Amino acid sequence: MKIFIDTANLDKIREVNSWGILDGVTTNPSLVAKENTDFETLVGEICKIVSGPISAEVMSETATEMVEEARKLAAINKNVVIKVPMTEEGLKATKTLAEEGIPVNMTLVFSAAQALLACKAGARYISPFVGRFDDVGEDGLRLIAEIMDILDSYDFDTEVIVASIRHPIHVTQAARMGAHIATIPYDVLKKMFNHPLTDIGIKRFKDDWAKVPKK
Ligand code: E4P
Repeated sequence: MKIFIDTANLDKIREVNSWGILDGVTTNPSLVAKENTDFETLVGEICKIVSGPISAEVMSETATEMVEEARKLAAINKNVVIKVPMTEEGLKATKTLAEEGIPVNMTLVFSAAQALLACKAGARYISPFVGRFDDVGEDGLRLIAEIMDILDSYDFDTEVIVASIRHPIHVTQAARMGAHIATIPYDVLKKMFNHPLTDIGIKRFKDDWAKVPKK
C-alpha cells in the first residue's frame, strides 16, 4: 500500500518524508486555508520535498473552467495531480484532462456508482472519504470493499486513495482489502507506529543491557 500524507503543512510533510515511507501528498482547500501561503507557491514547495504525486484541487464549477485551472496547476510540476470533484462537470473535465495526459484524482466519492463513473471518465485516482461517510452513520470501509470488488473485475487504470482517514484501523482494514493508497493525516501517521508494548520492550531491553558487564 502506498502512503500519502493528507496535509498542506510543509513542516509535517518534511518530517514524515524523512521517515522514508512517504509516497505522495494530498491537499484540499480546507487544508490549504490553514497555511499562510498562496496555493501555487505552496504546491511548488511541496513538490520540492516529495517526489511522488501531489494532489491539488480545482475550485471552478464548470468543466471548461476546471480544465483551464487544472492546466495551470499541472504546469507547476510534472508530479501535480488534479483533484476534481465528483460532479457531472467534474466527469467532463476528467475526461478532457485524462486525454491530455494530466492525471486526475476524483474526490468526494461516497458511492460505488460514483467510483465506477470516475473510472470510466479516466480518473487516475479516486478518493472515497471513509471518515466522513462513517460520520453520517454509513460504513466507510464497506464502501472501500465495494469499490475494490469493482476494480478487481475490470482493467481500469485507476488507483483508490482511501481518504478522510480518522484512525489506524481505517488504514489497516483498507490495506487488507488491497486498497492501493491511504492518504493519512499527520496525527494518525504518528499513532500508527506507537504501541505501549514497544515502549515497554525498549525500556526492558535497556534496563537489562545495563546489567551486561562492559569491557
Ligand atoms: C482527501 O483527499 C481529503 O483531503 C481528506 O482526506 C478529507 O479528510 P477530512 O474528512 O478529514 O477532511
